[in-house]
Parts: sequence; structure tokens; C-alpha cells
Amino acid sequence: MAVHPEHQKRGLGDAIVKELLRKIKQEAPQDGKPYISLLADGPGRRLYEKNGFVETAPSSIGMVLE
Ligand SMILES: CC(C)(COP(=O)(O)OP(=O)(O)OC[C@H]1O[C@@H](n2cnc3c(N)ncnc32)[C@H](O)[C@@H]1OP(=O)(O)O)[C@@H](O)C(=O)NCCC(=O)NCCS
Repeated sequence: MAVHPEHQKRGLGDAIVKELLRKIKQEAPQDGKPYISLLADGPGRRLYEKNGFVETAPSSIGMVLE
């Protein structure tokens, strides 16, 4: 996700993450807990941690083939 540099640090990123999480939880099956994963670039880490995300390492790590 990205917020235009002119509009950063006003709470927009936090509002977007919260709305996405609200929507996912709303749409998830009643009897299941959604498994939500993402790859966090540097600037997003604090934002995601603030919204409850935790690092998966060392049990699982992100991988890429370039
Ligand atoms: C990561 C990103 C989306 C965050 O967007 P944002 O709109 O700036 O996010 P927020 O405003 O909700 O929060 C950013 C910071 O501003 C602070 N902030 C929020 N409202 C504020 C206000 N009114 N005044 C001062 N600071 C404020 C937040 O507390 C937060 O500070 P912290 O990082 O020290 O916790 C944005 O930096 C971005 O687009 N980066 C480039 C792309 C990128 O790397 N994305 C991550 C992909 S994983």
C-alpha cells in the first residue's frame, strides 16, 4: 500500500489498514479466524505492528525468485 507523499503522516495509512482489516473480518466465515499475511517494507512495519501484525520469522520467512 502507499499514500501519496504529500498526504503522509496524517493517519491515512492507519485508516486504510483498519478499514481493510474490518472488511476482511466482516467477510470471513463466522466459524473461522482469517489468516492475514503480508510482506512489510520498511516504512510500513510500524503501521502494521500498531495494528496487531507480528513477524513470522523464524518459523516462516518471505521468499522471492527474481
Ligand atoms: C507506509 C505508508 C503507507 C504509511 O502511510 P501514512 O498515511 O503516512 O500513515 P499514517 O499517517 O497512518 O502513519 C504514519 C506515521 O504518521 C504519524 N501520524 C499520523 N497522524 C499524524 C498527525 N496528524 N500528525 C503527526 N503524525 C501523525 C503516525 O503516528 C505514524 O507515526 P509512526 O510511524 O512513528 O508510528 C506511507 O509511508 C507510504 O506510502 N510509504 C511508501 C510506500 C511503502 O513503503 N509502503 C509500505 C509497503 S509494505
